[in-house]
Amino acid sequence: MSIATTAQRIGVLTSGGDAPGMNAALRAVVLAAEHYGMEVVAFRHGYEGLLNNEHISLQAPDVLHILQYSGTIIKSARCPRFKEEESAELAAKNLDALNIQGLVVIGGDGSFRGAHHLGKYWKGQIIGVPGTIDNDLYGTDATIGYSTAVAIAMDALDKIRDTADAMDRVFIVEVMGRHAGFIGLKSAMAAGAERMILPELQKDKPLTIAAIVKHIKRVEAVRGAGSYVMVLSEHQWPGGAVALSEQLEAEYGMPCRPCLLGHIQRGGPPTATDRVLASELGVHAVELIRDGVTGVMAGLRAGELVEVPLEETWTKKSPLDVNLLRIQHEIFNPVKKPARNEQE
Ligand code: ADP
Ligand code: F6P
Repeated sequence: MSIATTAQRIGVLTSGGDAPGMNAALRAVVLAAEHYGMEVVAFRHGYEGLLNNEHISLQAPDVLHILQYSGTIIKSARCPRFKEEESAELAAKNLDALNIQGLVVIGGDGSFRGAHHLGKYWKGQIIGVPGTIDNDLYGTDATIGYSTAVAIAMDALDKIRDTADAMDRVFIVEVMGRHAGFIGLKSAMAAGAERMILPELQKDKPLTIAAIVKHIKRVEAVRGAGSYVMVLSEHQWPGGAVALSEQLEAEYGMPCRPCLLGHIQRGGPPTATDRVLASELGVHAVELIRDGVTGVMAGLRAGELVEVPLEETWTKKSPLDVNLLRIQHEIFNPVKKPARNEQE
């Protein structure tokens, strides 16, 4: 949707789980705004700051040399009360009182739901910038932070492989992703994992412990003694990697170790891919505001900048790459060649 006014003063916030590259996106928003003669007001702690009027003015010197750091210099937060009508009304009032005409929300699907909710009560322009390690937003090939999370998981999996190989052990490495298997799939492929347990695959045919054991034994039969590394997406096994490895060791006598990567996946230097994506999308967001656009996410699809209605980013689903699944299951699987997407 496009509206006639051109913003002179824009707001920006980072919301939900922080993602590597959020700082780079913030820098891009500030530099682009300055380039087009707009002022930038940043709300600290996501929607909490919008409700509490916790804001600071940002200029180019404030965002110099921040793109190499993960986290977010303006802080992020989860703000459950923002779902209430009164919160959106208060946020609209606060934005108007500051004479802000456009707002850039950097975050994931929850943050975009919040942006959409605000849009029902505020007449200013709202643009989303996809910032989440989970990559679970429809309409953009990648979200900011995903590339870094995959790189961190791959690096950890490589290290795990060294010790697993030395002692012929089974390792279960638990990765993040909320309810999506993007990090699991890409890191498993990048590190040559023997097995992956992903939410999208579990929906059709959940793995049983017997099937897991069978696969481990068949890999051993084919390759001889050695390491076996399994990538487990979070929430896909009751009790997670720890419970699964305890079960394998206690019930089947398999020397097995768990490793939870957790929030490590959200820290350290963002990859060049994330820094550049964040820079492009941050500028795109400001240019969309300048063009009078509202209610969309700034995305990148097949190398092209795109605008996706906010609601579509969570009502439509991005599937996992079927070719990567096929390769993992049919070509790289050491023991069998099942049909596409099939789990055994
Ligand atoms: P992410 O943006 O990373 O998905 P969350 O799901 O925690 O993270 O969402 C971030 C914030 O967005 C929430 O804490 C809340 O303030 C806001 N939010 C999420 N869902 C809604 C909703 N349905 N309506 C209004 N605000 C929401
Ligand atoms: O959405 C990003 C994410 O890191 C998910 O992968 C994970 O499930 C969740 O946030 C963890 O949330 P918190 O940082 O609140 O523990």
